[in-house]
Amino acid sequence: MGAVNALPSKGIFDSANLEAREHVVELLCEAYWMEIETVMSYISASVNLDGVRAQEVKESLGKDVEEELGHAKQFAARIKELYGVVPGSEEFSAEQSFLQPPEEQTDIVHVIRGVIKAETGAIEHYTKIIAETEGVDPVTQDMVIEILRDEQGHRRLFEGFLREYEVAGIA
Ligand SMILES: [Fe+2]
Ligand SMILES: [Fe+2]
Repeated sequence: MGAVNALPSKGIFDSANLEAREHVVELLCEAYWMEIETVMSYISASVNLDGVRAQEVKESLGKDVEEELGHAKQFAARIKELYGVVPGSEEFSAEQSFLQPPEEQTDIVHVIRGVIKAETGAIEHYTKIIAETEGVDPVTQDMVIEILRDEQGHRRLFEGFLREYEVAGIA
């Protein structure tokens, strides 16, 4: 074993780490789908909402669409780097029941709560990836830490929106 240990480790790319690498790819595929679904949900919400009060939320969601798409691309690139295959559309299954269009397109609170829920889900999954890549795949970990910060920022912003509605007695 001495001679083997003397070889430089290739880390997550080491053949001895095949199982760990496949697990990271699985986690990344899940993250990829979360981002794609968020892009769909945020596009529809950023267009559907009506009313004077909706403008700020719509603009913010429109900007987030670009950021979430950027995250999806980052996850896809990392899947490829880890010898995985970015899944095709037939593997997609929707999970954001809470971000379907509201009955009334002036129901901004419904959308705000949905966004907070989506961001919270992303934060939970990315925190899990960060924990599970600790000491295993620092490059994926680094990337996900950065993305996690974006999601925390998104959630914080929408918590502020919700607070405003609570104070106004609308939520
Ligand atoms: Fe994202
Ligand atoms: Fe986000």
